[in-house]
Amino acid sequence: MEEKSITALLGANGAGKTTTLRAICGMVRTEGTIRFSGDPIQGKRTEDIVRLGIAHVPDGRGTFLHLTTEENLRLGAYARKDRANVARDMDRMYAYFPRLKERSHQQAGTLSGGEQQMLAVSRALMLAPKLLLLDEPSFGLAPLVVRELFAILRTINAEERVSMLVVEQNAAMALELADNACVIETGRVVLSGSAAELKKDDAVRRSYLGY
Ligand SMILES: Nc1ncnc2c1ncn2[C@@H]1O[C@H](COP(=O)(O)OP(=O)(O)O)[C@@H](O)[C@H]1O
Ligand SMILES: [Mg+2]
Repeated sequence: MEEKSITALLGANGAGKTTTLRAICGMVRTEGTIRFSGDPIQGKRTEDIVRLGIAHVPDGRGTFLHLTTEENLRLGAYARKDRANVARDMDRMYAYFPRLKERSHQQAGTLSGGEQQMLAVSRALMLAPKLLLLDEPSFGLAPLVVRELFAILRTINAEERVSMLVVEQNAAMALELADNACVIETGRVVLSGSAAELKKDDAVRRSYLGY
C-alpha cells in the first residue's frame, strides 16, 4: 500500500482479513515476504514490529475495560522512547475525540461502543505509529457513529500523516473513507485499485455494495 494513504481491505466473512492484519503484526506464522518501508518484517517479534511504528486496533478493540480512558491512552505509549511528547499527544487525542476528554477518568468499560472504538483508535495512535491497522472499526456501531469516526480518521490521516489499513465488511463506508482498496477471497487479493475504481466495479457492487 502507498505511504500515508488510507487503504481498505475488503472481503466476506472468513476471507482472511483479520489474519492479514495479524500476519503484518507477527502474530501468526507466515510464508513469503512482508515489507514495511521497503524492509522485510516477516518473522520479527510483535513487540519489535510495534517499535517500527505499526499499531494494531484489533477486532473487539482490545481496550482494558477496568482501566480509565486516560490509563488506556498512557498504556498505548508504552513502547515510545520520546516520553516527553506523551502528554502533548494525549491532549492531541482529546482534541480529536473531545468525548474521551469528558470521560478521561471513567472506566473504559462504562463507555459507549462508539467511545470505546474511539479510545481503541487513540490508544493505538499514542504509539505515534507510521501505520495504523484497523480491524472492522465500524463493527457494532450505529451508522451515524461510524460516519463520525470515519470523518475523524480522515482528519487524523491528513494531519498526522499516518498510513491506515482498514479492514471492513462495511464496503460502502470503507470505500468512502479510503484512497485505495483491495478485495480478498480465501486469503488472496482478487481485486485492487483506487476506491473510486472499485466503487464502479460490477463484481464489487454486486457482492459487497448490494446494488
Ligand atoms: N492466508 C491464509 N492461509 C491459511 N488460512 C487462513 C489464511 N487467512 C485466513 N485463514 C483462516 O481462515 C479463517 C478466517 O480468517 P479471518 O482472518 O478471521 O477472516 P475475516 O477476518 O476476513 O473474517 C481463520 O480460521 C484463519 O485461520
Ligand atoms: Mg475478521
